[in-house]
This record gives sequence, C-alpha cells and structure tokens, in this order.
Amino acid sequence: MKRNILIHPDPRLKKVCAPVPDLSDDLLKLADDMLETMYDAPGIGLAAPQLGILSRLIVLDCEKEDGATPRPMIMFNPQVILASDDESTYDEGCLSIPEQYGEVTRPANVKVRWIDRGGDEREEDFDGLWATCVQHEIDHLEGKLFIDYLKPLRRQMITRKMKKLKRERARL
Ligand code: NI
Repeated sequence: MKRNILIHPDPRLKKVCAPVPDLSDDLLKLADDMLETMYDAPGIGLAAPQLGILSRLIVLDCEKEDGATPRPMIMFNPQVILASDDESTYDEGCLSIPEQYGEVTRPANVKVRWIDRGGDEREEDFDGLWATCVQHEIDHLEGKLFIDYLKPLRRQMITRKMKKLKRERARL
C-alpha cells in the first residue's frame, strides 16, 4: 500500500527515531509499503520518519540504470560502523523536499550494519551512489536533512519554497 510522504518543514522530520525492538508484522508491512511508496515516487531511498513513523527503518534501491536488476533493501536499525576518509560529493535530493537539490560531501565508502527483513544481522560495504544514499537515509533517523549541510541562505530559500508548495497543495 502506497503511503503519504511528509514534506519539509514538518516537526516529525526533525526527530531522533527510536530503535526497532523486534520485527512485528506491522513493521514488516510498513517496510514493504515504504518500498512501494519509494518506487512509485520514484526515489532511491526512503526513511520511516518521512511517513511520520519515528522508528529506525530505511529502504533503498540505488540500481537506477535502465535495465538494471532491482535490488530492494530493507534495513532496520542501520548504523554506519566504518567510514572512509575519502569523500565524494553528490547533488542530493529528497522525497520530502521535492525538486530541490544541493551538493553534499560525505565519506565515499561506508560499512553499514543492520537487521534485515528476516531478522538477521547483516553487514556490507557501500560505495558510489549507494554510500551516499544510505548515509542520507540514516541521517533522516537522526532528524537530519540534506539541506542541513547547505549554507543557511540556500537552506532558508528551499524551506520557503517548500512552505509555498505545502500551501498550494493544501488548497487543492
Ligand atoms: Ni531524504
């Protein structure tokens, strides 16, 4: 089931999310709904707080080349456990901040540990777009958005645009 994505600014996007204690049926359903919502948007990552649910859960699939085999990933309680000194800069966007982009510099490679959909602990190294995306999504669980890395003026300009977008949508 597709769910509604919150648009910045929203207090729920600024909250630190709680660890997931165990994988209930509701949480597994939420994870599947998040993937459906993300693919539909379309996007390459989504975090539970973007649906107003303050739990440590993210989904992602950064295989976006035409013809690439999809690789949907569901991560409960994801943590970056190792980050490279090498950095990379991407023009990031966010489904909660539609049509706005900004360059963010992050570690180029990260090792992430998480609990998968089957309840097993997993660990994997990510690079390229996957590394950027997984860090962006984990930031959401700390109440942090990519615009928080931008200069204040640029952040304020984007926030004003989003307020206007929300007013327009509310009128529909
Ligand atoms: Ni985002």
